Amino acid sequence: MTGRTTPIAVLISGRGSNFEALYRATREGRLPGRIVLVLSNVATAAGIEHARSLGLHTAVVPSRGAGSRAAHEARVREEIERAGAQWICLAGYMRLLSAEFVAAFPNRILNIHPSLLPSFPGLDVQQAALDHGVRVSGCTVHLVDAGLDSGPIVGQRAVDVRSGDDAQSLARRILRQEHELYPDALRRLLTEEWRIEGRRVLFGPASEVRAAD
Ligand code: GRF
Repeated sequence: MTGRTTPIAVLISGRGSNFEALYRATREGRLPGRIVLVLSNVATAAGIEHARSLGLHTAVVPSRGAGSRAAHEARVREEIERAGAQWICLAGYMRLLSAEFVAAFPNRILNIHPSLLPSFPGLDVQQAALDHGVRVSGCTVHLVDAGLDSGPIVGQRAVDVRSGDDAQSLARRILRQEHELYPDALRRLLTEEWRIEGRRVLFGPASEVRAAD
């Protein structure tokens, strides 16, 4: 990738497969960014070990026993600012961010969620989707606000629910789509003109805006 690349921090709590997908996209020239920090709030997260083995800058800021949420977030923010990250990608980061934290990086925090929001925010969402009997589920990349999985939607991918599905098989197929959607959604934000109108992320010059597709 030639030219300038955007410094990105990825925040994780576990496996880190979406972090890996973002990393691969930067290495393969599909995403004009570079990962300057991989931060976990869980010391044993598999993703942080992998990030270390790739030679990336990592930080563990344990949330357990950290005192107040504000104290934990202040340390996370310090790491992000020290690394010089301009965008923050939440990738399985199991913490809600405060309004203060979100306001410090306005429209520069993304999250990926394994359902078609606004259906099924929160946890155990594949089981919830199956229990509800939906025929289609999928994944969503959205800008982060102070709510739970509630910010403006940047991109979505649909995945058919099959009659033999359990939560694991559905999660696996959705995850494959997540790995394509996340780098793609961030690439659009970094390379195209866009703005937010109400809840809508509109791509393209202001004169000929079209909704995110
Ligand atoms: C993904 O399903 C993501 O959508 C959700 O948490 C899971 C994280 O998986 N927010 P991984 O750690 O990226 O493998």
